[in-house]
Amino acid sequence: MNENSAAATKLVSTRSTPGTVLIVDDEVAARELCSEVALEAGLRVRTAATTEQALEALEQAPVDIVVTDLKVPQMGGLELLRRIRAAFPHIAVVVLTQYGTIETAVEAMRAGAADYLTKPFHVEELRNKLERLLRAVEMDHENRILREQLRSRPGFGGLVGISPRMQKVYKLIEKVSQHSYPVLVLGESGTGKELVARSIHFSGPRRSGPFVPVDCSALVPTLIESELFGYVKGAFTGALRSKVGLLEAADGGTLFLDEIADLPFDLQAKLLRALQEREIRPVGSNERVRINVRVIAATNRDLEAAIRSGSFRQDLYFRLNVVQIKLPPLRERKSDIPLLVNHFLEKFSDPERPVRSISEEAMARLMAYDWPGNVRELENAIERALALGSGPVLQLADLPSNLHSSSPDRLPASDELLPLEELERRAIFRALRETGGDKLAAARLLGIGKTTLYRKLKQYEAERQSA
Ligand SMILES: Nc1ncnc2c1ncn2[C@@H]1O[C@H](COP(=O)(O)OP(=O)(O)OP(=O)(O)O)[C@@H](O)[C@H]1O
Ligand SMILES: [Mg+2]
Repeated sequence: MNENSAAATKLVSTRSTPGTVLIVDDEVAARELCSEVALEAGLRVRTAATTEQALEALEQAPVDIVVTDLKVPQMGGLELLRRIRAAFPHIAVVVLTQYGTIETAVEAMRAGAADYLTKPFHVEELRNKLERLLRAVEMDHENRILREQLRSRPGFGGLVGISPRMQKVYKLIEKVSQHSYPVLVLGESGTGKELVARSIHFSGPRRSGPFVPVDCSALVPTLIESELFGYVKGAFTGALRSKVGLLEAADGGTLFLDEIADLPFDLQAKLLRALQEREIRPVGSNERVRINVRVIAATNRDLEAAIRSGSFRQDLYFRLNVVQIKLPPLRERKSDIPLLVNHFLEKFSDPERPVRSISEEAMARLMAYDWPGNVRELENAIERALALGSGPVLQLADLPSNLHSSSPDRLPASDELLPLEELERRAIFRALRETGGDKLAAARLLGIGKTTLYRKLKQYEAERQSA
């Protein structure tokens, strides 16, 4: 028993690529034929003569594909299929039916079979089906690993943060990723707009298609049209050969129009037409090209103000703004700062000399700062601090100087020289005032431990009572 379970565990943990098939048939000759074909297709093979044996085998070690005859004893292939669907939904089941019993094949497909084959079949047919299923199983396997990796991070799809504001964002991303309508991502600079766009693309069915980012502010105005829509040879001087535009290059995938507010006014109309008609006409061409592209646009500007001032077309805004995702500035989700700091320490520290922690003082400073440049500024601050610092713990002195000067516990300039104890008392009460009495946050601000703060407060209380 122990040996068996040890062997099973080993199989699970050492298995890196999928590829085991279980063949269920009570006829020896049929089992052998199927086994031979499966081995040729590169699969590992296990066999069972009854449904009971089959279920036992499935309990013992992982299987990716089951090929079962429908008339196999005891419970029959259809019931076996149903049990597999319920207990092992990742397994692909192929059923073998007798010639002339198409109804049962239909029933099996309805019950969730991946495919069926009518006996007698050509060896080639079975091999093709097995190979195709193996590829699908492999893809599914890889996707599952990827999904697990995405899930195990404290955030979603490369986005770090678990604050309620970010969780709302993740829910929206998950929802919109399954569709193709346009999404408008808004937020201050450095809040993660591009990461959100990527995350939408890579969480949805378009993930195998291209993700094409276009920075509308970086394109040379006179070239934007040909960049977006492409051109044909001879369309203008210098067009020596035809070039596919970005809209066409994103076919089957996602076009990310970054800094959309910077798109010149006349091109806004052309873009709108392309999105409405799902067609483009390359510069210099008479022919239209169908496109199947999901558009995600982003900006840190106020588009409604741009519409009022006449620099942005309202009709394009309506078209792009089907769903809006608004990213909070970092100062409104400060509780995510520690997670982000850890993430960037992991990302930038030298694997040979990893820096895994940060002093309380330094963390307090990061929590107190306002982050006008949002996550990008925090990312840069940590990267620079790691480049400058040398110890295993990131220190306050390693942080950029602009963070130093925003010292939260800085006291008003005063010529008066006070005893250190009095300075400390004032700093503590000021921190408590600034955090609205939140002791934990005050301790963080001051760069001291929570217990130290509690101890000091008790001491002040005792002094007050005895006074
Ligand atoms: N939630 C997050 N988790 C981890 N990294 C993040 C997060 N948000 C942003 N970043 C990082 O911050 C940097 C800026 O993000 P991004 O480029 O997506 O911002 P943006 O909103 O597009 O900024 P801009 O408006 O300036 O283009 C990137 O390096 C990105 O990886
Ligand atoms: Mg950006």
